[in-house]
Amino acid sequence: MKFIIEKDYDKMSRSAADIFAEHIEQNPSCVLGLATGSTPEGLYACLVKDCSDGKISFSDVTTFNLDEYCDLPVENEQSYRYFMNFNLFDHVDIAKNRTNLPCGINADDETCKNYEQAIEDEGGIDIQLLGIGHNGHIGFNEPSDSFSVITNLVDLKDSTIEANSRFFDDISDVPKRAITMGIGTIMKARKVVVVANGQGKAEIVKKAFFGPVVPEVPASVLQLHPDVTVVLDDEAASLIPKD
Ligand code: GLP
Repeated sequence: MKFIIEKDYDKMSRSAADIFAEHIEQNPSCVLGLATGSTPEGLYACLVKDCSDGKISFSDVTTFNLDEYCDLPVENEQSYRYFMNFNLFDHVDIAKNRTNLPCGINADDETCKNYEQAIEDEGGIDIQLLGIGHNGHIGFNEPSDSFSVITNLVDLKDSTIEANSRFFDDISDVPKRAITMGIGTIMKARKVVVVANGQGKAEIVKKAFFGPVVPEVPASVLQLHPDVTVVLDDEAASLIPKD
């Protein structure tokens, strides 16, 4: 695992965006795995700037997002489709029909299998972006007693509903279920980039990347992936061993 530690959120975002921009430059028809949450917003703003400055083009890029809430219409501002359009897709030269998110409306096992197959049909994910939940979740893979293998439907933990309620008018509006790439799907990505910032993530960063690999901390599985870069700001890195 490689760690990049930057002074603040803006520098962390730029540094992580550089990894993606470089990748797109070298492989213009790459397959990106993308994430939502507040952490990657700065990174997306950097990529939008790079694209409008003519440094990179998304015209041949394909994307697959990690996850989506169940039964939240895509027009809802809290849906992850809305988030992705708002933060990235509407501002770059990407073909919208090559941007994929799991469909959370009436999702069933078939929906999950089809999403998995769609990723495989594109040759797999070249580079996957991840944030990390306070309980160690990646995508919406919650702490569990086993690592999920493929795209699956999950019941969100109360702690996740609570954490994500900040984006909704009322906690009762937060969907209770979601569809997410599995841990196995994420581990198949050829390269993984994790971003985390702020003191609130310091404890889980230490636990996930320096503690035991256990399904109770889903992100800990990344210790077993051959190509992971973790990009942190000083605060999120404050509890990790210094040498
Ligand atoms: C959400 C998403 C995750 C994200 C995490 C952290 O629940 N499903 O993909 O990484 O929460 O979010 P944030 O970056 O806002 O802390």
